[in-house]
Amino acid sequence: MAQTPDSLEIKADGVQLIVNLASGTPVVLHWGSDLGAHLDASQLNTAMQEGVPHADLDTFQNPGVWRENARGFLGRPALQGHRTGQDWSQMFDIVEVKTTASTIFVRSEDKVAGLEVAVNFEITPSGILRISQSLKNNGATPFALNDLTTFLPLPDYTAETVDFTGRWVKERQPQRREIQVGTWAREIREGRSGHDYTIVQLAMTKDADYQRGEVWSMGLQWSGNTRHLIERQPTGRTTIGAGELLLPGEIQLAPGEVYEAPVVAAAYSGEGIDGITDRYYRWLRSRPNHPSKVRPRPLTLNVWEAVYFDHNLEKLTQLADVAQSIGVERFVLDDGWFGARRDDHKGLGDWVVSKDVWPNGLKPLIDVVKSRGMEFGLWFEGEMVNPDSDLYRAHPEWILHAGDRIPPEGRFQQVLDITHQGAYDHVLGQVDAILSEYEIAYIKWDHNRTLTEAAHLGQAAVREQTKAIYRLFDELKLRHPGLEIESCSSGGGRIDLGMVDHADRFWTSDCNDALERQYIQRYTQFAIPPEMLGSHIGPTHSHTTHRTHELSFRAITALFGHAGLEWDLTETTTAQREVLKTWSAYYKANRELLHNGKMIRVEQPDDSAFVHGVVAQDKSRAIFALATLRGMPGMTPNALRLEGLEPAANYHVKMVQPAGAPQYVHRQIPKWLDGVVLTGAALAKVGLRPPILAPENAILIEAERI
Ligand code: DGJ
Repeated sequence: MAQTPDSLEIKADGVQLIVNLASGTPVVLHWGSDLGAHLDASQLNTAMQEGVPHADLDTFQNPGVWRENARGFLGRPALQGHRTGQDWSQMFDIVEVKTTASTIFVRSEDKVAGLEVAVNFEITPSGILRISQSLKNNGATPFALNDLTTFLPLPDYTAETVDFTGRWVKERQPQRREIQVGTWAREIREGRSGHDYTIVQLAMTKDADYQRGEVWSMGLQWSGNTRHLIERQPTGRTTIGAGELLLPGEIQLAPGEVYEAPVVAAAYSGEGIDGITDRYYRWLRSRPNHPSKVRPRPLTLNVWEAVYFDHNLEKLTQLADVAQSIGVERFVLDDGWFGARRDDHKGLGDWVVSKDVWPNGLKPLIDVVKSRGMEFGLWFEGEMVNPDSDLYRAHPEWILHAGDRIPPEGRFQQVLDITHQGAYDHVLGQVDAILSEYEIAYIKWDHNRTLTEAAHLGQAAVREQTKAIYRLFDELKLRHPGLEIESCSSGGGRIDLGMVDHADRFWTSDCNDALERQYIQRYTQFAIPPEMLGSHIGPTHSHTTHRTHELSFRAITALFGHAGLEWDLTETTTAQREVLKTWSAYYKANRELLHNGKMIRVEQPDDSAFVHGVVAQDKSRAIFALATLRGMPGMTPNALRLEGLEPAANYHVKMVQPAGAPQYVHRQIPKWLDGVVLTGAALAKVGLRPPILAPENAILIEAERI
């Protein structure tokens, strides 16, 4: 496309954004597949000028990025706010345009309202569109900002949307619905991204699935309150939007002050949801500090479900011994090592090693761990305080609260107001002291309650609290080079595209039940790559669901993430330890592929099984899993199709069992399990006849290009 003064484009990897400036405001004419080199964008602009219907304004109005009411736009404006009742309606005119090969920047002003907005579109090599918006108050009095949302247009034929709900131990349950006239909003008001957070919201064509159809998505690089929107107007025009959800009075821009909205990361795929996932993964993996780029993801043992609050050097030494024999590389001591924290009623806020449980400090345990060739990790929950703690007794005023009201407790705790310099310094100082005294490679940072009435000196402060935790993580990493941070929030309550820049790993869920994990991991992995998602083999008998699963099912499920264990390994049998050893060796031998390849989810004719896999970027190798979720409807299972391979190439395909055997329910085993050679096309279209598995079992299949 030829760039004309009125039309600008950026494109990468088959994705194109065309912005037109002819009407005095930036109008996104197109965001989607590349429309080709011969397109004349001014002609496209002409083609998109609508006719004027009866009972409407007399001339066609083009709302543009800021969707001003003053331009006749009747949907939700991008900007909402006011100056004590004035300047609530604006009309912005372009004052500056700057472009590079991958960016378009437009700044516009409303001189009368005394406001200035700017938008920057940037396209990454993997086709992710990163959009930053800001608002500056040029007026002489404060401007109260209610909302600055980023919207992009969707084609009229976009038919359905997918977002997520969820709860503790069942994070990210998808909801797919038809787009109808109106606004579908997913709002988070709990001061963290939340168990029900829509990490990315999707809009798609009617036929779209993992491999086929057009899909558009938006995610926010933010961990506080958020809003994701799909809006279809009575005109039929449809948009997708996302922005920070601001509480009343949270942003009062002083004269000259600027509000920077969280960056929106938007993706388009003409090849189904997997295409969207692939773009997010390639973008995240291109960052220099992406965890699997820094070093292979160490096999982790977290002792929470093994010992809970019962810290005891002898028991933990036994655990370390078994962990070493299995090949564990990182040993994490969870909650209970500090202050008066012998249960979850007290001690949060006092980040000093408890003399009661650790009379000689943590050194004896760390020595045990290090001498067995593992690195040591430690749990914190720095943004929280139990009222029964030295910290709270000294500073009851250091909690987020509005007026004189004390918020209801959650897990017997309050939220520490780390926007308060004293509280921030207290946490930073105590955590820093522990990290300076001991050799600690990794911290698991928890956040076990929602924020309610989250105010600092009466003013809503979720935004400032969110910025403070980013700052604190960054400062700890600066002071302790190489330190890794896991973001945990009662499991997967703080997993988002903002935290990816401050933490190295997410605790995906407190549920280690492999069946639940099949769902939780699949949907969390829509935008977050597996190497950032902790996935552990839990106990045989799940602590959160009381289901019992084969070790092979638990181990195969845990393989597709940053793998680990969360189980009292001292109670394992010799046979189980042998399986864990071969599984651990398999994880290490294959994590390069598992953490760099393309995620493939194969559509199934019914919901009795999942098939998913990781295909190397050069398509030379792949590892797939077939996981049965419930009893199958037919006598024999559906064909096991492997998609994403090179259609014309031949692959040697076989079943592998590094995690032991599943529970079969057949009298004769299929012939191909030891090896068969098929083309990528045959594997995708015809597939293999899988062995008959009992429900809640899994097998692994490897494909190697010949
Ligand atoms: C909630 C976390 O999700 C668990 O993994 C564990 O760390 C507990 N908190 C400790 O209190």
